[in-house]
Amino acid sequence: MELAGSSAIVTGGAGGLGAATVRHLAGLGVGVAAFDRDLQGAQRLADELGDRVVAVGGDVTADADVQAAIEAAQSLGTLSIVVNVAGGGVRGAGRTLDRDGSPHDMEAFVGTMAMNAFGTFNVTRLAAATMAGNEPDDDGQRGVVVNTGSLAGLEGQTGQVAYAAAKAAILGMSLPLARDLAAVGIRVCAIAPGTMGTPMMLSAPDELKDRLVSSIVFPKRMGRPEEFALLVESIVRNPYLNGENFRLDGALRFPPK
Ligand SMILES: NC(=O)c1ccc[n+]([C@@H]2O[C@H](COP(=O)([O-])OP(=O)(O)OC[C@H]3O[C@@H](n4cnc5c(N)ncnc54)[C@H](O)[C@@H]3O)[C@@H](O)[C@H]2O)c1
Repeated sequence: MELAGSSAIVTGGAGGLGAATVRHLAGLGVGVAAFDRDLQGAQRLADELGDRVVAVGGDVTADADVQAAIEAAQSLGTLSIVVNVAGGGVRGAGRTLDRDGSPHDMEAFVGTMAMNAFGTFNVTRLAAATMAGNEPDDDGQRGVVVNTGSLAGLEGQTGQVAYAAAKAAILGMSLPLARDLAAVGIRVCAIAPGTMGTPMMLSAPDELKDRLVSSIVFPKRMGRPEEFALLVESIVRNPYLNGENFRLDGALRFPPK
């Protein structure tokens, strides 16, 4: 994808991996709408990075908020890059049966699906409708979408059933989205990160961090948010990457617990 004149939406743009992506794309000269329900966090980033970045507050599952993000990105260039990073866990999600045998809270399961899978699909479908109107490049390319799954979507651990299902849904969308959107020249890939050293992860107790790092093969450390952003850039730039999920994990395989 040609970066000059392009703009991007990065959902979850105020968070650990999202902010690194906003920073990286803006550094490449792309105009970026940092879209997050944490408007203050997104605004702090926009203030720091200057007029290439606009903060948009809102929820990825709310159509009007997504449209506002699309318009903000369009004001900075031709919207041709969408990076869906917003997601995470929801309070109350846990084991299918908890320790006293009670079944999983259904609201927490649905909420996890909404925050991750429904939000990712919602932003993709609305942004694709806009990007379909772009002038195609020599390959017929009009845009690219990069979604964020997790190793949990491939190797979900005990107590992660809702998150694992939601991330598996995101990874499962890559190929059918790529097939659907081929008609309008939009590529779709996803990244499945392992254990990333976001500010929140780095502030965890040393004992927990040591345990998490112990099963990473090499390099023997958490992934850096900039390494996530670098993979986003590779996917955006390389027109032959499509319909694929990429692990970013230092050869980590999640153990059962
Ligand atoms: N950090 C890791 O080790 C890791 C590993 C695998 C996958 N991931 C995934 O990467 C993504 C980013 O993770 P992170 O560690 O940067 O998390 P984070 O909590 O720092 O960032 C997530 C951001 O998304 C925003 N957000 C959440 N729900 C939203 C919604 N409905 N609408 C708009 N914004 C919303 C939050 O406000 C937050 O700023 C998540 O999808 C996460 O599941 C992270």
